[in-house]
Amino acid sequence: MTIYEKLQEELVKNPALDVFARELELGKEEIQRVLTKKEEQSEAWLALPDFESYPLVSFKSQIGDFVASETNACVKIEKPPEQIDADLAIPCFSLMAKGKETVAKLADGIKAYPFVADTSVVGGYINVQLKADVLVQETLAVMAEQGNSYGASNDGAKKLVVMDYSHPNISKPMSFGHLRSTIIGASLKRIYEFCGFHVVGVNHLGDFGTQFGKLLYAFSQWKDEQAFAKEPMKEMLRLYVKFHEEAKQNPELEEKGREMFQRLEKGDAKLVEQWIAFCLLSIKDFQKTYDALGMNIDLALGESFYETMLADTLKKLLDKTIAVQNEDGSVAVNFADESLPSFLLKKKDGSSLYILRDVAAAGFRLQAFQPETIIYVVGAEQTLHFRQLFKTLGLLGYNVARFRHDPFGLVSLPEGKMSTREGRVVFLEDVLAEAKTRARAIAEEKNSELSESEKEKIAEAVGVGAVIYSDLSQSREKNIVFSWERAMSLDGDSAPYIQYGYARAASIMRKAGVEVTLPERMSKLNEREKKLVRLLARFPEVVAQAREHDAPHIIAGFLNTLTQEFNRFYAQDPVLTADEQTKNSRLALVRAVAQVLKNGLSLLGIGVLERM
Ligand code: ARG
Repeated sequence: MTIYEKLQEELVKNPALDVFARELELGKEEIQRVLTKKEEQSEAWLALPDFESYPLVSFKSQIGDFVASETNACVKIEKPPEQIDADLAIPCFSLMAKGKETVAKLADGIKAYPFVADTSVVGGYINVQLKADVLVQETLAVMAEQGNSYGASNDGAKKLVVMDYSHPNISKPMSFGHLRSTIIGASLKRIYEFCGFHVVGVNHLGDFGTQFGKLLYAFSQWKDEQAFAKEPMKEMLRLYVKFHEEAKQNPELEEKGREMFQRLEKGDAKLVEQWIAFCLLSIKDFQKTYDALGMNIDLALGESFYETMLADTLKKLLDKTIAVQNEDGSVAVNFADESLPSFLLKKKDGSSLYILRDVAAAGFRLQAFQPETIIYVVGAEQTLHFRQLFKTLGLLGYNVARFRHDPFGLVSLPEGKMSTREGRVVFLEDVLAEAKTRARAIAEEKNSELSESEKEKIAEAVGVGAVIYSDLSQSREKNIVFSWERAMSLDGDSAPYIQYGYARAASIMRKAGVEVTLPERMSKLNEREKKLVRLLARFPEVVAQAREHDAPHIIAGFLNTLTQEFNRFYAQDPVLTADEQTKNSRLALVRAVAQVLKNGLSLLGIGVLERM
C-alpha cells in the first residue's frame, strides 16, 4: 500500500486531517521498515567474497607488493593493449632513470612467482605473461564456487548509499528521460549491492509544485469525465497542454494556477483529495513500466513528503544569511562572489520551489539514513540545479562530499525531440510493446520450433533487454539517439546478441547431457581459449571499475567483447566432438562464459534464457 493510498483512506474518515504531517509519519514508518529489511539481509552480505580472493586480483596485488618493496614506489598495474600478448603491464618510466639493469632485475624477480610464465621489458613497461594453466584452473575454480556471486565482493563494507532515481512527475507520462534515470539507477543499485554496499532506492516523485495548481485549475474548468475515467494519464496531459495554450491568450490563468497551488499547500481538503487521486493514478501508470523492467524502488517519497520541513529549512537558511528575503516577499540565495547564478527558494506568493524541497530532502536523508553518499541520477540538464543545491548544502554545514550528481544525456528519437508541454511525447508503454513485438518476430524467424509460451518469454526478456541495453551500453553522459535497428541487432552490441550468446552456451551444455564440472586439469589452451580466460578472470575488476565510476557501460562493453570472443571460439573450436579431455575442458569454459554473461547481464537488469 502506498503512502498516498493510506492518506486517501484517512482523509475520507477525517477531512480535517493534517495531510502533510501525516504523510511525514507514514514515510518515517516506511523508512524504518526498509532499513530493518536491509539489516536482515546482512547475512547475504557476509557471504560475499573478498575482492582479493579472485586469482587475477591476488596475482596483481602480490606483484604490486613486490614492486613496492623493491623500489619503494607504488605502481598501477595496467591491462596491456590488445596487440600485446601479455596479461599485465607495469609502467616503469621513472624506474628507467635508475638504469636498465634495475628494471631487468625487477622483471626477473616477478618471473619467479609460481603463477608467472614470462616477463619482458618493452618501451618503459614490464609485460607479464601469467601461466595460462594456473589462471584458468584457479579462475574457474573460484567461479564454480561463487556461481551467481562471481564478480561480487564485500568491499563496500555495508556502507549505505541513497540512490535517488527514476523520480517521474505525477500527472505526466513517464518520459524517456525518466526511463533513462530508472534504468541507470536500477543498474547502479545492483552494481553497488554486488560490491557490498547497502543501497536504499528513493523515488523522489515530482508530486508537488505550481504545476499542480495549474492542473487542478484546468481540471476544475475543462475536464472530460469520460476521458479521465478511461485514460487518466492522457486526459491529464491534455489538460496540462490546454492550460499552457489558454494561458498564452489569457495570462491571468497563471495567477489562478498559483492560487490553486497555495490552497493545496495549505491543505485544502477538496484539493488534497483530487491531488491524491492524481498521484494514485499516475503511480499505477508508472508501475507498468517498473513491472515491465522487472524492478521496484524501495521507497516512494515524493516532494510533498518534505512539505512540513520547508519552514524550518527556510528559517535556517535565513538565520545563517545564506538566503535573503526580497522586498516583494520572495526568498533567494545569492552566492556573493561566485560564478553561480542566484535562485529563488520561495516565490513572492509564498509557495515553495523545487530546490527548497531538495535542500530539505538532503538534510532529512542524512539524518534518517546516515548514508555515506547520496547519489542523484538525474539528467545533465539539471547540472546547474545540483551545483546550486550542493553549494547551498555546503554553506549549511553539510559535508558536500556526501552528495553526488550522476548526470546523463538526453535521449532523442530519429523523429526529434519530445516536449511534454506541447504534448509531443512518446508513451513508454508503446515503446516497450513495440520492443516485444520486434523481439518476437526475431524469435520466430530464428527458431520456429519454439512453443507459444517460450516465444512469449523470449519476446519479453529480449524486448525489454534490448531497450535497457541500448541505454546502458552508451556512456552515461552522452546524448543518445534511440534506434530500433541498433537495439535489436543480432550482429553485436545489443542485448539480443549477448542473450543469444548465452543461449548458445546453454544449448551446448544441454546437448552434452552431463553435468559440467571443472576437470582436475584443463587441457592446453589455444589462443582463442586463452583470450576467453583472460576476459573471465577480469570480470571482478570490471565490476569494481563500473562501481567506481558509476558506469554500467563498462560492464555492457565487457559483455559484448566476451560474446564476440565466445562466438569466435564457438565457430572454430568444436566442443562436443572433441576428444574427451578437450571436450571436458571446453565444456568447463563454456559454462564459465555462460556464468559471467548471466552475472553481468543481471547487473544491468537483463535476464537470460536457456533456449532461444
Ligand atoms: N522529478 C524531477 C524531474 O523530473 C527529478 C527529481 C530528481 N531528484 C531530486 N532530488 N531533485 O525533473
